[in-house]
Amino acid sequence: MRALHFFQCSLVCFLAATASVSAKSIVDAVYRENCASCHGAELEAGSGGALADGLWKHGGSDHAIADSIAAGILDAGMPAYGKTLSPEVIRSLVVYIREKESTFQAKEVPPVMPVGVVKTQRGSFVVETVLASGLETPWALAFLPDGRKLVTERPGRLRVIDASWNLVLEPVNGTPQVVQSNQGGLLDVVPAPDFASSGWIYLSYAAPLPRGEPASKSSMTKISRGRLIQNRWVDEETIFEADPVHFSTSGVHFGSRLVFDRGDLYFSIGDRGQSPAAQDIAAPNGKILRLHSDGSIPADNPFATRIDALAAVWSYGHRNPQGLVVDPRSHEIYDTEHGPRGGDEFNLIRKGANFGWPLVCFGMNYDGSPLTALTELDGIDAPLYHWTPSIATCGLAFYIGDKFPDWTHDYFVGGLRAGGSAGPRKSGCLQRLRIRAGKVIEAETIFEGLGRVRDVRCGPDGLIYVVLNQPDSIIRLVPVLAEPADPI
Ligand code: HEC
Repeated sequence: MRALHFFQCSLVCFLAATASVSAKSIVDAVYRENCASCHGAELEAGSGGALADGLWKHGGSDHAIADSIAAGILDAGMPAYGKTLSPEVIRSLVVYIREKESTFQAKEVPPVMPVGVVKTQRGSFVVETVLASGLETPWALAFLPDGRKLVTERPGRLRVIDASWNLVLEPVNGTPQVVQSNQGGLLDVVPAPDFASSGWIYLSYAAPLPRGEPASKSSMTKISRGRLIQNRWVDEETIFEADPVHFSTSGVHFGSRLVFDRGDLYFSIGDRGQSPAAQDIAAPNGKILRLHSDGSIPADNPFATRIDALAAVWSYGHRNPQGLVVDPRSHEIYDTEHGPRGGDEFNLIRKGANFGWPLVCFGMNYDGSPLTALTELDGIDAPLYHWTPSIATCGLAFYIGDKFPDWTHDYFVGGLRAGGSAGPRKSGCLQRLRIRAGKVIEAETIFEGLGRVRDVRCGPDGLIYVVLNQPDSIIRLVPVLAEPADPI
């Protein structure tokens, strides 16, 4: 058995042995060598049966699949791999099977395409484009009380849209300098809860190293506030800026979203590509942070009195949270975060809690090499929901409007991708989650294939607004009357 012999070594040896294989194919190679002969090259058939059709004889949970692989189903002729493949490699095979499963299902079930009236489980809507052109990589949308809207463009411009959805041609003058590289740039925008009297607007962005070489591209997520007067950004104040040691030339995982609760500001910063830093409570990487609206530290922050911690930290062990909302009734904070390949998460953010990255994760590395076998661990808060394969979560809204009564208090999660990262798929999706008693009881795709969903907001008019990239535009979901939904 050449295939099995190939794996009679430790994980280190496994990685060394496959180092010559092109990066994309590590998990493919494991599957091809060990499994394809019985389950088919595309997991579609063979003497062992299909693994991608969603039908499971021996249990379809992640645990059950991993058990089938490790312990085998000896009576039926399925070998046991527990001695030759490490738990990490078996976990990456489970992720791989999930990717193929979702591609297979996508072929079977046509994607939800919003042509005309879209009927969903609890509401019917049409898609209206409210802004079709004039923006470049819009990242976030905010509504002001006078009917105007603010939009950030990742290359570094803050734009104003008037009450009738006309884009003001001139970008706001004097906004902070950003480092535009890869995922970095101008990111979130949120008005203060007391905006009507204070006029404060908060921005998050990839900021250059203070007094650094302008060309160094070294950057870190920074939060500033300022006021908008006649299309000028004025009165700028720094709310959060990391110590220079945390700046880096990495262009990934800045976070970042801003949300207010009871006057305090919560915001997210990604791990900046340095995953161990997410576990270090002294570093801002991979954290949800909490400050008073003026940037001062709340005395009841979980690590406020520890000298070995960054006092602004609220929770840790996050990878790249790009969705953050509060349920105003319970004051519970929720985030969505990008996993690696598989393992995007929806989390209830508890004060001081550890969310596990990179010790615990449902995904594997982008190159298909294993990351961890652990999907749970004592002392780590598990996600309420995870997407494997990834949808590349971005943007999160809590629905409190009056236009879709059957969606009241549901969560709307944006994705840059559609479900199923394995095959060529239409980009972007919007998903709806319903939570009751701390559990996700409904998960539904509202649409996919319209473009990369960058932000989702509930408008003051009760409609759901979605910021898209490719095409760069803003759409909204408008309800249409249909038969009443089934009672809960
Ligand atoms: C020598 C043939 C053979 C090889 C090699 C093989 N399998 Fe299987 N596999 C089977 C058979 C046979 C079954 C049982 C099918 C049944 O019960 O109908 C099975 C079942 C399974 C199941 C459970 C399916 C279910 O419906 O619950 C999983 C998961 C699985 N295999 C994964 C793998 C993976 C991953 C590999 C490679 C590491 C692999 N198999 C290699 C023959 C094989």
